[in-house]
Parts: sequence; C-alpha cells; structure tokens
Amino acid sequence: MEYTTLNNGIKIPLVGFGVYQIPADQTVEAVTTALNNGYRLIDTAEYYQNEREVGEAIRQSGIPRKQIFVTTKMPPQANYQEATKRIDESLKALNIDYIDLMLIHWPGQANVENYQAMEDAAKAGKLRSIGLSSFYGRDYQEILEKCDIVPVVDQNETHVFRQQSEFQKVLEKNGTKLESWSPLAEGRHGIFQNTTLNQIAQSHQKTVAQIVLRYLTQRGIIVIPKSIHVDRIAENINLFDFELTDAEMNQIAALDTEKSIFGWY
Ligand SMILES: NC(=O)c1ccc[n+]([C@@H]2O[C@H](COP(=O)([O-])OP(=O)(O)OC[C@H]3O[C@@H](n4cnc5c(N)ncnc54)[C@H](OP(=O)(O)O)[C@@H]3O)[C@@H](O)[C@H]2O)c1
Repeated sequence: MEYTTLNNGIKIPLVGFGVYQIPADQTVEAVTTALNNGYRLIDTAEYYQNEREVGEAIRQSGIPRKQIFVTTKMPPQANYQEATKRIDESLKALNIDYIDLMLIHWPGQANVENYQAMEDAAKAGKLRSIGLSSFYGRDYQEILEKCDIVPVVDQNETHVFRQQSEFQKVLEKNGTKLESWSPLAEGRHGIFQNTTLNQIAQSHQKTVAQIVLRYLTQRGIIVIPKSIHVDRIAENINLFDFELTDAEMNQIAALDTEKSIFGWY
C-alpha cells in the first residue's frame, strides 16, 4: 500500500474502502473482506447508517487500532453544540477511542461553528484530523479564513469524467489533499465500456477499474472505492505494480467533462 502525508504529518493510505450504500447487515462482512485484502482506510458517515458495524469489523479484525485509518462524516449541524453532540455520537456508534478523520459531509448553514466543534474535539484527542467534503469556492475559503486548522482533505466528487484538476491545485496550494468520492463514477456514464479506458486496460493487463483508480492515485488523489464483491474489493486495491505513461495520463485527462454526473454543484 502506498501512503500520502497529510498537512499534520499523519499518513493516510492512498486507497481506502468506502461503505456508502452497503446495508448495515452486510457491512461487517464487507469491511472484514477489505481488511483481509490489505485495506487500512475505511470511509463511513453518520448518513450511511453503518458506523456501528464498521467499528465492529475493526474490533473483530485483531489488527492493531493504530494501523487502521477511520474516516466518518457529520451532516451539517445547526450550531456548535449540535456538532459537538454529533461527534460524540459518532464516537459512540463506532465504539472506538478516537476517529482518525472527521469531515463535514456537505456545506450547511453553520459551517464555521461545525468546524470549530471539530477543532475542539481534535484538541481534546477525539479526532486526529479534520476536513471537509463537497466544499468548493467560498465555502472552502471561509474555513481557511475563519478557522485555525487547515482542513487535511476535501473529499469531493472526482473521477475521470470530473477530474477537479484546477481545484486540486487550489487545495494543494493551501495544504489540503483532494480525496475522491465515487472514484469509479459509481459505474455511471459508460465508464466500464469506455473505449479509451478499455484499450489502456488491455495494454497493462488490468481492468478499467484499476486504470481509473491508478490514474487518480498517480495524481496524488486519495481514492475510496466501494464494492460488496470479494473479487472487486481485491482488484480495487491492486494498483501499485504498474504505472501509466504520460501519454496514457493525457488520454485519460481528455475524458474530463468538468461537470458533476450526479447533478451536484
Ligand atoms: N462525501 C460524499 O458526499 C460521498 C458521496 C459519495 C460517495 N462517498 C464515498 O465514496 C465511496 C465510493 O463512492 P461510491 O460508492 O459512490 O461509488 P464508486 O466507488 O465510484 O463505485 C461503486 C460502484 O462500482 C461498482 N464496482 C466497484 N468495484 C468495481 C469493479 N472493480 N468493477 C466493476 N464495478 C465495480 C460497485 O458495485 P458492487 O458493490 O456491486 O461491486 C458499485 O456499484 C463511498 O462508498 C463513500 O465512502 C462520499
């Protein structure tokens, strides 16, 4: 596994396991499969309703806690007090001593207060790192201007059809890493049938999923693909025994539409 280093010196795996849309009763099994296949970053959220099961799989695994990087997210809360409560509820659901990374899941009406609650929880040792999700433009700048801790990541819709190349530069200039949600474009937009991607896959004897995940990680972007299938879970982390050439990187760069495929802004 390759790692990248966050602005607070903490290392995060470049490939993690996302558990959005994994039903609670399948989550322990899926996370266990992921951990057995070498994943050490698990990405959940209060919204996914499977934090409890993620924690259970981690405890059952016998893997030392400090080797696993756990991310969760809070939906935007009305104020500082509600955000503080929400952080404690996630800790309780996960039933772990600390959360490696907590994000505000999407912008709301009290972003600064939500973020300040996370800052205080970080100072109290409840959260090791804090960041954002789906924050762009003014929403991101406001956190930089009004808060003390620079977000370690901004987890945004990022895949070959929405590559975020310009925004990645803005984030990096400020010390924030880009983390991709839906790195496989959730299978939409004909990604697995795409001719360019299939040709590149063939020439490396890899799958299209591996090519698009390699593309993102080769750009220094953290990816968290989701699957409930054992073979795909194994496939999606097996990215580090080949490299895309500059020409291939350029071919894939040309697939960018610079638009959300989910109707997000
Ligand atoms: N912050 C946010 O607002 C936000 C939003 C969306 C997602 N996320 C995070 O990002 C993670 C990943 O995003 P996502 O779940 O939306 O989509 P994704 O990882 O881009 O794609 C998942 C889809 O691709 C299929 N798949 C997985 N591996 C495959 C492979 N090797 N070959 C063919 N198909 C494959 C999966 O099917 P099977 O499961 O049937 O294999 C599933 O339908 C989420 O789980 C979540 O942790 C965050």
